[in-house]
Order: sequence, then structure tokens, then C-alpha cells
Amino acid sequence: MHASHPSLRRVGVVAVVVLVTGALFTPPSNAGSAPGIVRESFGATAEGPVHRYTLTNGKGMRVRILTYGGIIQTIEVPDRRGRTTNVALGFDNLTDYVERNPYFGCITGRYANRIALGRFTLDGVTYQLPINNAPNSLHGGDVGFDKHIWATSPFRRDGNVGLVMRYTSPHLDQGYPGTLTTTVTYTLTRGNAIRMEYRATTDRPTVVNLTNHTYFNLAGEGSGSIENHTLQLDASRYTPVDPTLIPTGSLDPVAGTPMDFTRPTAIGERIRDDFTQLVIGRGFDHNYVLDRRHRTGLQRAARVVEPRSGRVLTILTEEPGIQFYSGNFLDGTLVGTSGRMYRQGDGFALETQHFPDSPNQAAFPSTVLRPGETYRTTTIYQFGTTR
Ligand code: GLA
Repeated sequence: MHASHPSLRRVGVVAVVVLVTGALFTPPSNAGSAPGIVRESFGATAEGPVHRYTLTNGKGMRVRILTYGGIIQTIEVPDRRGRTTNVALGFDNLTDYVERNPYFGCITGRYANRIALGRFTLDGVTYQLPINNAPNSLHGGDVGFDKHIWATSPFRRDGNVGLVMRYTSPHLDQGYPGTLTTTVTYTLTRGNAIRMEYRATTDRPTVVNLTNHTYFNLAGEGSGSIENHTLQLDASRYTPVDPTLIPTGSLDPVAGTPMDFTRPTAIGERIRDDFTQLVIGRGFDHNYVLDRRHRTGLQRAARVVEPRSGRVLTILTEEPGIQFYSGNFLDGTLVGTSGRMYRQGDGFALETQHFPDSPNQAAFPSTVLRPGETYRTTTIYQFGTTR
């Protein structure tokens, strides 16, 4: 036994000091608990048992993530007066996630968003994907990354807590070529951010476009419409779509149209304008082309403020685009985590991504991944408050 080894004793003393100072300076509110990770059972699918991880950062945030679909089930964040509520739409049970989830919270892949007619050609070979959003393929097909159990390992680092989630998709899974080995690292930081780092490698040329599909309501999940939220998008162009929501290929300016969120604007302010793109989308369901100051690196893409609570969500990303979806297909048939039903516009999604249908659009940034390359991209959901 080496229990009395001097260096081990020193470690023990340091740990005690940290615990004592932690106790002395712990604020009295819910913000005061130490960072933590708890795992519990959350049922099972045909693929195996599902677990739920609860991450707390000791700074007022608590996030629940399922091993099924890498789903962010809840995000509890304080408002300007320190009152905490869950701002992510979701379900309180696994069956709803398996049977009727409109992508609440999940990792979306292999290809987030739509591929026209579910078909693309790469290196002269044409691949056919499932048509699960007629006439197109949406969010990776019938059984996308949102519907698998991810091998999950928790970690703690520098006062942050997180999960490393892994899934290997076999060659021709949902019609996509190449064995795709994917890692998504979720970190709940002590700075009240959720950092998402995506990595993927392949053994054959393929296409990949990963995102997280959390729907937010910063006043609280189930509290009603998000139309009062003000949104700012760092994007002066967007990709207009045809009636099947496939980009026409042009990058149109938002200036002078209801698509313009370059200045903070209430989501509901122009959502009923008689503008063809809003009619097609039944609201906002569009990819915005981010104004990148630098070709690479993290940059702000969006800032959302809920005026009554003062909650603020800022999204930073390395991606070239962001899909703004104003919850248009929510129709009062789903009952959410807190037992209230979701109607149209009760949540919004901001999905950082490459542009929709890029495999068929030569002028869009490429989504091709080849053997020997590593797909790497990071997105951050930063939470805060304003007065
Ligand atoms: C994306 C799409 C929407 C819708 C949602 C899921 O945001 O762009 O059209 O399919 O996913 O319901």
C-alpha cells in the first residue's frame, strides 16, 4: 500500500482545503452546489438500456442529457433575479422521444437538414437516402443519429463537467457511404455555457453535417409563444428555398425583407408578413449565411433575449450557417416535460450547420469528408441575463 506516500498526503491536504473553502464561500441559493454528474436509468430501446445524465455546474445551471440520441432533455438556467427554469422543449419519458420526437434536443446526423430527393452523387457514384420528408431526406433519414444509443463517458475538468458520446454508423447506414465514427463532447462550463464539439472520421468518401436540434423557450418550456423573444442573427444573407424547403442555390440579401434579423427584432414582429419565403416555411425555417469575419474559428452567430425574464442565449459557432426554425410544425399534439402542450411557435431552434442540400450544390461550402481527414466543429450555447 502507498497510502502514506508524501505526495499522496499532499494531495489529500489540498483536497480538504478546497472542500473547506468551497463550504465557506458557497452562496446560499441553488447556485451554490458543487459541479456534479449523476447517472440514472431512463428505460430501454431495442438497442439496449438508456441512461440519463444530470450535469450541474454549481453556478445555477443543470442540464439533463440522454444517451438516446444524445438528447439534451432539459436546460435549467437562472433569470435576471436568479430564478431557475427549464428553457429546452422535450418530453419526460423515453417513449415519446422514440415515437414522436420532432428532433427535440438531439444530435442530428449524418446530414442535418434536407438533401433534395434524398439523392446525391459523390466521385461518380449516386447514393439514395430514405425519403422521410417527401420528396426529400431530412436529418439523416428514417433512423438518424437522433435514434441511436450513444456510448457515453462522463468527465470533469477545470470545474467543468461533461460527456463524451460516441457512435459508429456502418457503411451504407441510411444509404450514406463510409463507416462514420462520430464523437460529440458536451461540456457544461462553469461559465454557464454548453459547449458541443463534434468529431468524425470515415473509411470511404462521404458527406457529413452534424448539429444539435434543441428547441428553446427562454421564458420557460411550456410557457407559451416565443414571438416576444428578440433575435439577432449575424447574417446579411440567407438561402431562399423552393416549396419543398430545398435551397434554390442563391444567397439572397435579408435587407429590406422580413428575413432581416441583423438588428435585434422580435420573432413575431414580421412572421405574418405576406412574403413568399414565410409562406413556404409557415414562418421562419431558413438557413442563414453567417457573416464570418474570419474564415475559421468560433464566431457569434445569434443572440436571443427574452425580455420578461431577461434570459439571454448567445450562440457561437465555427459553422458557415444557422437554420432558424420558429417551431412552425408544433401543432398542439405533443405534451412537453412540464405537462403542457406545445402549439405552433412555442419554441424555436437555431441549428448551426453547413447549408442544406450542400451535396447537390457545388457553390455551397463542401460537406465532403474523405478518409484521413477529421471533421471537427464546435458550437457553444452561452447563457446569461440582461436587465
Ligand atoms: C428542421 C427543419 C424543419 C422541421 C424541423 C423538425 O428545423 O428545417 O422544417 O422539419 O427540423 O420538425
